[in-house]
Amino acid sequence: MERKYVAEPYKIKVVEPIAVTTQEQREKFIRDAGYNTFLLNSEEVYIDLLTDSGTTAMSDNQWAGMMQGDESYAGSKNFHNLQKAVKDLYGFKHTVPTHQGRGAENLLSQIMIQEGDVIPGNMYFTTTRAHQELNGATFRDVIIDEAHDSTYDHPFKGNVDLEKFQALIDEVGADYIPYICLAVTVNLAGGQPVSMENMKAVSNVSKKHNIKVMFDATRCVENAYFIKEREEGYADKTIAEILHEMMSYADGCTMSGKKDTLVNIGGFLALNDDELYQKATELVVVYEGMPSYGGMAGRDMEAMARGMYEAVDYNYIHHRVSQCQYLGDRLEEAGVPIVKPVGGHAVFLDAKKFYDHIPQDEFPAQTLAAQIYLESGVRSMERGIVSAGRDDDGNHYYPELELVRLTIPRRVYTYAHMDVVADSIIDLYNERAGVEGLKMVYESPVLRFFTARFEPLE
Ligand code: F0G
Repeated sequence: MERKYVAEPYKIKVVEPIAVTTQEQREKFIRDAGYNTFLLNSEEVYIDLLTDSGTTAMSDNQWAGMMQGDESYAGSKNFHNLQKAVKDLYGFKHTVPTHQGRGAENLLSQIMIQEGDVIPGNMYFTTTRAHQELNGATFRDVIIDEAHDSTYDHPFKGNVDLEKFQALIDEVGADYIPYICLAVTVNLAGGQPVSMENMKAVSNVSKKHNIKVMFDATRCVENAYFIKEREEGYADKTIAEILHEMMSYADGCTMSGKKDTLVNIGGFLALNDDELYQKATELVVVYEGMPSYGGMAGRDMEAMARGMYEAVDYNYIHHRVSQCQYLGDRLEEAGVPIVKPVGGHAVFLDAKKFYDHIPQDEFPAQTLAAQIYLESGVRSMERGIVSAGRDDDGNHYYPELELVRLTIPRRVYTYAHMDVVADSIIDLYNERAGVEGLKMVYESPVLRFFTARFEPLE
């Protein structure tokens, strides 16, 4: 029998107890954390849906690999295994290990961007855009308009609008666009995928203008799964085949291995071009380490190489996305406003609709994340005006999407945990009237969402 929500394709060998707290304790904890869920201690959290980044449960096979770490300073055998996995599964010639995704973004931005360049992308990601800007580039969003509408049901809401892309090339000139950064899937749009057809089209336009295509491959396996489920002609292909074809439309990628390579730390920059690789190796020794380990220990490279093969197992990814879908469906059935369709790594609550009486500069998503914690001990993340930061004139960016992300770690929680999350959010939704927003009392100049502090409005 085909089940609507597929059960876990693993059994549990080790358990980690989690904290059960009272409402009274949580009131103190969130106050001490300045109403910012990033500043809570993990011991104060019951179900941690802050992020799917580095929170994966590794398999026994990966842990066995950790014992085979070759910690030689140069030429570690684990590096060769990692290089082989990247070549086999993604098809790229060169791999530069980094400590995590933003280490790869730093290298890529430095080797490719000149002051005054413009980098198109399908919606921004915080660290990706920060590195582009630090290197003197301006980010320009070329995602389809539908991606900014939380209610619009589109199978590939991460797609690039090819007319916007072409218009940007006409406006600034291809010489000022070293590459387009294509995220597969798009985190801030709600974990939305890009279709194979769109990747191919982006690659064709880019080739014509001598613009390189760089993927942010952070959640590329989830993207491959959606292509199998939703795009004509891919139902009978394996996840590995789809992934390989996806990557054939890119010249390289940055990877946060903390997501779709199923590890707790690590990342890489992968490239086909020999000259760019040469430049990356010159920089990696300054920022990370020798090119054959970059920012990683041998054992971590081994766990990553093994995780990459596990991630393309259909049973793994089918369950992963099914669990997100289950949480989304439960909330939607109760009328809670969520981003549709549900993406590959998280369910996003639409805070503008949830608290439609709270103006955006009183931080509805930040407020909702704090309320969810108070109600249930569940930790989520603001992805709205606080995450978007300020422009050069010091004004807030006002993003269309004001969201709270319930991010599901890989292979960590069960459907019963998802029920706790759904029940508490449904209760909050039914009692939403009269909840007041927050005021920001501290912020840092870059990536302020990590450390900003808030107080309730008087
Ligand atoms: N790109 C995307 C799409 C990401 O989601 C992340 C991280 C990065 C790049 C940076 O990778 O953290 O390894 O340096 N996202 C995490 C998150 C932090 O919670 O979504 P990193």
